[in-house]
Amino acid sequence: MAKLEDIQRLCLSRAIIFPTAEIYGGLSGCFDYGPIGVLIKRKFLDYWRQFFVKNEDNIFELDGAVILPEKVLIASGHVESFVDPITQCEKCKSIYRADNFIEEKTGRFVEGKSPQELTKIIREEKLVCPNCKGSLSEVRMFNLMFKTFAGPTGEQTAYLRPESAQNIFTGFERVFRAVRGKLPLGIAQHGHAFRNEISARQFVIRSREFNQIEIEMFFDPENDGCERFDEVKDKEIIIMTREAQLKNGEAVKVKVGEAVKKNILPNKWMGYFLAKEFEFFKSLGIKEENMRFRHMLPEETPHYSGGNFDLEIKFDFGWKEVVGNAYRTDHDLKNHSKFSGEDLSVALPDGRKVLPHVVEPSFGLERILYAILLESYVDDKERGWVWLKLPKKIAPYAAGVYPLVNKDKLPDKAREVYKLLKKEFDVFFDDSGSIGKRYARADEIGVPFGITIDYQTLEDDTVTVRDRDTTKQERVKIEELINFIKNRLN
Ligand code: ATP
Ligand code: GLY
Repeated sequence: MAKLEDIQRLCLSRAIIFPTAEIYGGLSGCFDYGPIGVLIKRKFLDYWRQFFVKNEDNIFELDGAVILPEKVLIASGHVESFVDPITQCEKCKSIYRADNFIEEKTGRFVEGKSPQELTKIIREEKLVCPNCKGSLSEVRMFNLMFKTFAGPTGEQTAYLRPESAQNIFTGFERVFRAVRGKLPLGIAQHGHAFRNEISARQFVIRSREFNQIEIEMFFDPENDGCERFDEVKDKEIIIMTREAQLKNGEAVKVKVGEAVKKNILPNKWMGYFLAKEFEFFKSLGIKEENMRFRHMLPEETPHYSGGNFDLEIKFDFGWKEVVGNAYRTDHDLKNHSKFSGEDLSVALPDGRKVLPHVVEPSFGLERILYAILLESYVDDKERGWVWLKLPKKIAPYAAGVYPLVNKDKLPDKAREVYKLLKKEFDVFFDDSGSIGKRYARADEIGVPFGITIDYQTLEDDTVTVRDRDTTKQERVKIEELINFIKNRLN
């Protein structure tokens, strides 16, 4: 398996993803996407949208502002509870996230413990600063939100949103009335979220600004209305139950329908999304054995959640959450009703008024792209270069177009083919270096097809199409090229 350093090296050398403001030394945890990164991201988002939104009748989209007034985040609980424990070296002033630090140094699981308990453990275990051996301060809580002030006099305190979800709750009533006025109703959103992580690290895995893609599914708690549950009830997923975690047990494979029936999962909506996620990631090349839904232990469950099932993927450095699935109950709508004074309950056709409950899948785009790059990375000794076996649907370009040599009208013919394909696909033209080098450059960013224009092209209007995965070449008529690529991409 490739390693984080391999992925990072590739991302930097091909400007796929690189540090923001790099020429000034960067800002830790912030990244920019270059041309290839933008294309992969866009294709991924389109595929995600097709899979989770377009395919549904009752999920609508929102695109919210990233700056939120303080009141929203007081109501949601983030001002009080979106905190991590920190400790600081009294000598060199280095700062550590206390719970992670203790876990790394001692192997003890301490998530959810109070600052006093963590301080006690640091003292008991005689932990000191790994930098300079200085003593560590008492543990205190640190709020991860970026605070800012709106207006020239800074009269209004605001925050960069720590999750994209809050716009969906504050906009719920208006969207509900505008689009349908019926439950269940899903609202999906892709956008940036911001967290002042204590130590941004592991490349994009722990960033300070990152992309979230979330759905809030609002439903009547007495009648979930999950009509498509039958489509997924026999699908198997892998769950790491709380019991298994406490007893060092294994994750279990279980049918989604059974997991709901046995109350392993809190409701059908949770089951529906977990099943869809499992399918989705498999379709992106992630192996079943490298995925599991971990039922978070009570002490690590977010303040707003009545139960979380994190989709974890096994990376080169261990298991890591890539999608948080939370049963948010009516936590958010209840609190926004209370703090805003607006009644956010909805009237149902049977005359009842309910505050909808919510199941939320929350995808982190950077972690997902990392998982896909890791899974796709092939260090091919036979070929003599690294290539990416990217799922074709999210490859940055469908094809590269190459004149075999830069003479005898081959470049002109190649430009013609390039222009033709450009109308349908993202493609690029490359006439520099040997043909082998051009194949290698394209392979390295996962381009599925290489189209070479040679002398025979001038005679019979055919080109060679090289397949990235097999390196085999076929001759295809130019007039059939678009359909040929379309079929192969699908
Ligand atoms: P972790 O425990 O790793 O900090 P989290 O529990 O804080 O993650 P959630 O709050 O559930 O994560 O956020 C939902 C999703 O957003 C995560 O599954 C992850 O993919 C993504 N995410 C969260 N924090 C970050 C971050 N700092 N950098 C990149 N992605 C993140
Ligand atoms: N919206 C879920 C999260 O960001 O934690």
